[in-house]
Amino acid sequence: MARRRQIFEGKGKVLFEGPEPGTLVQYFKDDASAFNRRKSGIITGKGVINNRISEFLMTKLNDIGVPTHFVRRLNMREQLVREVEIIPIQVVVRNVIAGSLADRFGMTEGTPLPRSIVEYFHKSDELNNPMITEEHITAFGWASPQDLDEIMSLALRINDFMCGLFLGIGIRLVDFKLEFGRLWEEDQVRIILADEISPDSCRLWDMETNEKLDKDRFRHDLGRVEDAYQEVARRLGILPESGPGDLKGPDVMQ
Ligand code: TMP
Repeated sequence: MARRRQIFEGKGKVLFEGPEPGTLVQYFKDDASAFNRRKSGIITGKGVINNRISEFLMTKLNDIGVPTHFVRRLNMREQLVREVEIIPIQVVVRNVIAGSLADRFGMTEGTPLPRSIVEYFHKSDELNNPMITEEHITAFGWASPQDLDEIMSLALRINDFMCGLFLGIGIRLVDFKLEFGRLWEEDQVRIILADEISPDSCRLWDMETNEKLDKDRFRHDLGRVEDAYQEVARRLGILPESGPGDLKGPDVMQ
């Protein structure tokens, strides 16, 4: 089979040219990194699970009218997505104090926020993803005030929907990161959700025990990392047909 042209390789994913113009193939790796690549490792089966979880969540979001880049899952580790121009901003929505918010303000992890907070970070590994405000985003031309209104409103809708969905399976959605892109359709530009939504990009805690079911297990060497990803997939009812025994999936990247 002809080798596909690789467009981009990130920490957890590879993007290949898609079968039709305007599409890409998004391949999910088992590679994990944290603290801007200062820590790296492998979480066996993560790519297969994240492919499924992201498919599941993006499909549900599409169903409620949130536009996303997801087209369809192709196989265990790949999905077909629409090619967008990525807006160089990470949008973080927080419901509970954790992670860098706790560190920045010396606050106790686990305290619920009275209202959800949306934060922006500039997507730049070289600069260590600095936190930015709407002023930076508009002044540097990354997005217009109208784009930002759209991004904020989509982020809050996604948060409302996902909080409810995870609540239904006994999981607290502590925080998560989103990325958006621009899609040109005829002479119109639309902002749509891109990248992935998975335990790599969310903090997910068990409602009863506060056990972490996300990448923090890897970041902070908490053990049973694979189990946590599998548990989220299991509760969502989407463990791969072959079951947890075959989560490694095909190794070959064509
Ligand atoms: P933070 O507390 O480290 O700022 O992270 C907030 C949320 O965003 C958390 O769920 C993890 C996610 N996140 C990413 O997916 N990628 C990143 O590069 C960073 C910094 C955070």
